[in-house]
Amino acid sequence: MNDKYIFKSINTNKEKKSFKEFLRHQTNSEYGGYKIYDGSRNHLLQIPEELSELVFFLNKFQKKKSNFKSFLEIGFASGKTNTIFNRFFKFNQIVAVDNFACDINANDLFANVQRKKLILLCGSSSSKEIKNNLKKFSPFDLILIDGSHEYKDVINDINISTNLINNKGIIVMHDIYNKEYPGVGKAWSTLKKNKKFSFKEIVCKKYYFNCGFGIAIKRK
Ligand SMILES: C[S@@+](CC[C@H](N)C(=O)[O-])C[C@H]1O[C@@H](n2cnc3c(N)ncnc32)[C@H](O)[C@@H]1O
Repeated sequence: MNDKYIFKSINTNKEKKSFKEFLRHQTNSEYGGYKIYDGSRNHLLQIPEELSELVFFLNKFQKKKSNFKSFLEIGFASGKTNTIFNRFFKFNQIVAVDNFACDINANDLFANVQRKKLILLCGSSSSKEIKNNLKKFSPFDLILIDGSHEYKDVINDINISTNLINNKGIIVMHDIYNKEYPGVGKAWSTLKKNKKFSFKEIVCKKYYFNCGFGIAIKRK
């Protein structure tokens, strides 16, 4: 696919800055964006500083190591972050899981399942059926955990991810500093005890909402 309409790559600080500015237009003001919440629920659920820094980091990482070919996202919502990742990384396969328990914008969802190599599994990541299906599509080079934010569910998603991640793969967790969901931060602290990974955090605490990315890099 040669579709470059969001961004092709971010290799320089200048490109990162302009990508961050682009993200502000997709984001509500509580997260550091330019939009007022309008009920349409088609805004980006990310802090521009954090997402631009994450994509920059992942881009550099894959240049040094190997390309991310297979991506798993637990918690797809309407798929906006998924689409942004898909612009930067040449995935051969994207698998996403969502039980669609939250309100989403149906048009946004439809737009974000198109034009990508996506397998969308509808159901809870805690269910046996979903876990068995995920095994069939594993291993994954990159995993984003952003589904249920309850402690026991996040631990479930961490267990799935540590079992299905490729050697040299990366697990990213969203909302590790979100005060509304303390279970995520607690689960992140548990993952950080796992010696098979090294860790990094990307956090911007300037806005009304805090989110924060935790990154776990599989050691060889
Ligand atoms: C914060 S949203 C995900 C946002 C998305 N990653 C993005 O950046 O655009 C969390 C999503 O997880 C889903 N979810 C909640 N509990 C789940 C579960 N047990 N299994 C799968 N998905 C779940 C919700 O339906 C919701 O769409």
